[in-house]
Amino acid sequence: MKLDPVPLATEVWWARTSAADDRLLRLLDEEELARNARFRHQADRDRHLLGRAVIRLLLAERAECPPEKVTFALRCRSCEEKERTGAGDGTDARQEPHGKPHPTGPAEGWEVSVSHSGEWVALALASGVPVGVDVERVSGARDLEGLAGYTLGDPERQAWERLSPADRIGAFFRYWARKEALLKATGLGLSGGLRRVLVSPADAAPELLAWTGGCGPEAAALLDLERGEEYRSALAVLTDRPVELAVHPHEETVRLLRSQPGGG
Ligand SMILES: CC(C)(COP(=O)(O)OP(=O)(O)OC[C@H]1O[C@@H](n2cnc3c(N)ncnc32)[C@H](O)[C@@H]1OP(=O)(O)O)[C@@H](O)C(=O)NCCC(=O)NCCS
Ligand SMILES: [Zn+2]
Repeated sequence: MKLDPVPLATEVWWARTSAADDRLLRLLDEEELARNARFRHQADRDRHLLGRAVIRLLLAERAECPPEKVTFALRCRSCEEKERTGAGDGTDARQEPHGKPHPTGPAEGWEVSVSHSGEWVALALASGVPVGVDVERVSGARDLEGLAGYTLGDPERQAWERLSPADRIGAFFRYWARKEALLKATGLGLSGGLRRVLVSPADAAPELLAWTGGCGPEAAALLDLERGEEYRSALAVLTDRPVELAVHPHEETVRLLRSQPGGG
């Protein structure tokens, strides 16, 4: 008898950037503080601060350790692949550490992903299985035709062009969020190539259809996350097990922040 696979518990936490507070800076390590200070706009500082502070608190709770014990190693799989295959020409070997944050120390074994856009920050976590989350603000002001050329694979582009101009805007950001969630789950990031990842059309259930050119995951669950008309968001979980998703709204994240010493 074949047993049903055990569902994989996955969490998504939402926070509005209005929850950012300078008191959270004490939760960041030196490298994060330096990066935070380099952002020119307050809105970018807030998004980055909130993402790092909340993910650290969530991991500390799960690892039952003080937040300052939670550390991350940044790994960019695109750069690792270039190094492995000797394809790098040296020009993109950036000094600055970058890539997907991998928990180290007591929280090692947890997998996380962070995304921010507009007024929203999204955090995803699961134990032992890579996750990728993306949130995008829908904007008709950008050069959609140009972006579509960079983002959509041929079959996607054909399906997208059959839509009315009004429907194309939301559909484009749906495609983008689904693809970027997958690219972030694998750790490749955008350098992995949005056009290489083919997903189902925006009005169909989210699904990874094909991954051309290697480096794709063996299995992936793809889910759309609801964030109102102005945003599109998706979660990718690199598993063949059913995903059991718990979504925690902004209010719950605020409660988590307030439960911290000095959290107001
Ligand atoms: C990093 C990237 C995935 C983020 O996309 P975005 O839509 O601008 O931003 P999001 O808010 O959705 O995600 C940002 C988060 O992704 C995470 N991230 C960075 N690189 C990542 C990667 N390779 N894989 C998964 N996650 C990554 C970080 O946690 C980052 O948040 P933080 O810096 O505040 O902690 C994308 O911009 C990218 O791949 N850039 C690489 C381009 C580049 O610099 N190439 C040269 C070196 S490869
Ligand atoms: Zn890189």
